[in-house]
Amino acid sequence: MWKFSYLIVFLNSLVVGHAERPSVIIIGAGASGIAAATKLLENSFNNITILEAEDRIGGRINTVKFGQNVVDLGAEYCTGTKGNIAYDLVKDYDVLEPAGLTLEDNIYYSDGTKLDLSLSHDLNDLIFEIYQKKYKGNVTEGKSTGDAFRERYNSVILPKYQNDKKKTIILEEGLRFSEGFVSLLDATPSWSEASANSDFETQNEDLVWKGVGYKTIIDILMKSYPDPKKKLDIDDKIHLNKKVQRIIWDTDETVTVVTADNSTYTADYVIFTPSAGVLKKDKDTLFDPKLPSLKEDAIINIGYGSVIKFVINFSTKWWHDDDKLFAFFWSHDDLNSINFSDGPSKDGVSWVAQILELITVPHNSNAWSGWISGDLLQEIEKLSDETMKMGIKYVVNKFLGKTYNVTEITEIVKSTWTINENFLGAISYVKRGTYKRGESIQGKLAEPVTNAAGKPKLLFAGEATHSTHYGLVHGAVETGHREAQRIIELYSKAEQ
Ligand SMILES: Cc1cc2nc3c(=O)[nH]c(=O)nc-3n(C[C@H](O)[C@H](O)[C@H](O)COP(=O)(O)OP(=O)(O)OC[C@H]3O[C@@H](n4cnc5c(N)ncnc54)[C@H](O)[C@@H]3O)c2cc1C
Ligand SMILES: *[C@@H]1O[C@H](CO)[C@@H](O)[C@H](O)[C@H]1NC(C)=O
Ligand SMILES: *[C@@H]1O[C@H](CO)[C@@H](O)[C@H](O)[C@H]1NC(C)=O
Ligand SMILES: *[C@@H]1O[C@H](CO)[C@@H](O)[C@H](O)[C@H]1NC(C)=O
Ligand SMILES: *[C@@H]1O[C@H](CO)[C@@H](O)[C@H](O)[C@H]1NC(C)=O
Ligand SMILES: *[C@@H]1O[C@H](CO)[C@@H](O)[C@H](O)[C@H]1NC(C)=O
Ligand SMILES: *[C@@H]1O[C@H](CO)[C@@H](O)[C@H](O)[C@H]1NC(C)=O
Repeated sequence: MWKFSYLIVFLNSLVVGHAERPSVIIIGAGASGIAAATKLLENSFNNITILEAEDRIGGRINTVKFGQNVVDLGAEYCTGTKGNIAYDLVKDYDVLEPAGLTLEDNIYYSDGTKLDLSLSHDLNDLIFEIYQKKYKGNVTEGKSTGDAFRERYNSVILPKYQNDKKKTIILEEGLRFSEGFVSLLDATPSWSEASANSDFETQNEDLVWKGVGYKTIIDILMKSYPDPKKKLDIDDKIHLNKKVQRIIWDTDETVTVVTADNSTYTADYVIFTPSAGVLKKDKDTLFDPKLPSLKEDAIINIGYGSVIKFVINFSTKWWHDDDKLFAFFWSHDDLNSINFSDGPSKDGVSWVAQILELITVPHNSNAWSGWISGDLLQEIEKLSDETMKMGIKYVVNKFLGKTYNVTEITEIVKSTWTINENFLGAISYVKRGTYKRGESIQGKLAEPVTNAAGKPKLLFAGEATHSTHYGLVHGAVETGHREAQRIIELYSKAEQ
């Protein structure tokens, strides 16, 4: 008899349960949106609609064609193998390899020589210690990454060189170099913006895609990789070029979403995934009614910044086989005598001095990627390809021209995350002065918003809603899964 009652419950769930499964609108088809969508589909929550403002999926994962191969203009590295869902999803497919990159032996001084290796090691170690928030010194909650760096620099590095005047002078110049890298890793305009403390957790053993690009993770989530025939039934649920302008969430049981072309969509739940930059800029017009003040505070207090990535191609190879990275360390005098005048400058110093490093692009014979951080990003993103190429060539010649016969740059592509209104930057960070142990600002950003009847209606995912893996693809994927799971659990509770 009990067997039959099980059968009835089972049939009931097929006939009644399925029909009653809630509808979900997912705003954004980046890593978190696709992760949420695929998790819902895998749990037979099929009434989903994904609205994406761009004409492509992937969001801040943007793998583009470059010559015969592909390059990434957004996320590129799978950072570490432990506690990393991006790694877990792909580890069986032989698509990743160790990046094998190191800053320390590859720092060049602007007089065209390699920087002293012992200085190079000390600066490298401290930069990554600060990035990984490993510094457990006397950094109080109000201190910035810059404060933490200086504290360690003064107490550990400077004393080592106190009898060497020349190195002490170079070390002082190294503060600017270090700020560039600390700002790059945190995506902050300067190192006085980011908090020295946060709950960030990452590993330093970067892996990189074997010529296939980070978009592979999106394919794996949708199950179109490795076997395209096994793809989830998702294509007709993704609507591109649909920029959401209004989310009406407090009226009744449903949420209504209006896009820029005046299409209207209604569902039981909305999962919102656009960047913290989009939230900061559009929160007052996007949400009707306005978000509760606690949520608004979290949006205002979270940090969100940017970086630029570019990829260039040289006409012929001029580097050695074992060269994988060149980092550019400007002397004080050279910095003040840069004679490249095209494009923006700050305090009289050209934007070209914000180009931090070139890194070889694996499986792409003559291609190198480059990174820029700082506070001129909007202006740099608007520069013409010609000016970009000339500026980069200027820097490469300045640092490497004595060692190599640098050839012409033939091609360039660059990211425009900062000026693109669907991103308005690269990644979130914890602002100086906002960190309190045990009180996660990302947790506040992640809290669902409930309607007048107290039911969660508006759910938030995206990298900025992850307390420990913010700023990373695997963080974004985890947040998408988290919000899908929240809906799945609400539904199974309602069923009981
Ligand atoms: C240059 C760069 C390098 C990076 N490098 C790495 C790395 O090496 N390793 C790593 O792990 N992570 C890296 N990251 C971070 C990683 O890319 C992000 O954390 C992650 O991709 C964010 O995913 P998401 O789903 O949270 O947001 P997004 O990818 O931004 O997805 C949100 C989507 O919402 C869409 N959208 C915005 N507004 C609207 C609207 N009004 N209506 C409809 N749709 C809208 C956007 O177009 C976007 O597609 C990097 C990021 C950048 C920019
Ligand atoms: C880069 O240069 C190499 C060698 O000339 C060439 O094979 C490759 O196609 C070029 N890539 C691009 C994007 O131009
Ligand atoms: C932190 O401060 C305390 C008291 O001022 C001091 O005893 C301790 O050595 C400091 N620790 C570090 C790592 O600087
Ligand atoms: C959308 O509707 C509003 C008001 O109904 C109207 O002013 C606007 O022009 C419409 N926009 C488009 C793209 O149709
Ligand atoms: C999906 O949900 C919407 C809104 O709740 C509803 O109007 C529609 O009929 C549903 N579609 C299916 C196939 O169940
Ligand atoms: C910059 O100055 C160097 C010598 O100091 C000179 O060789 C070079 O041509 C100058 N470049 C530009 C763009 O003026
Ligand atoms: C650069 O090219 C010149 C002229 O072809 C040659 O004399 C010189 O040795 C080359 N230098 C390097 C570092 O390869």
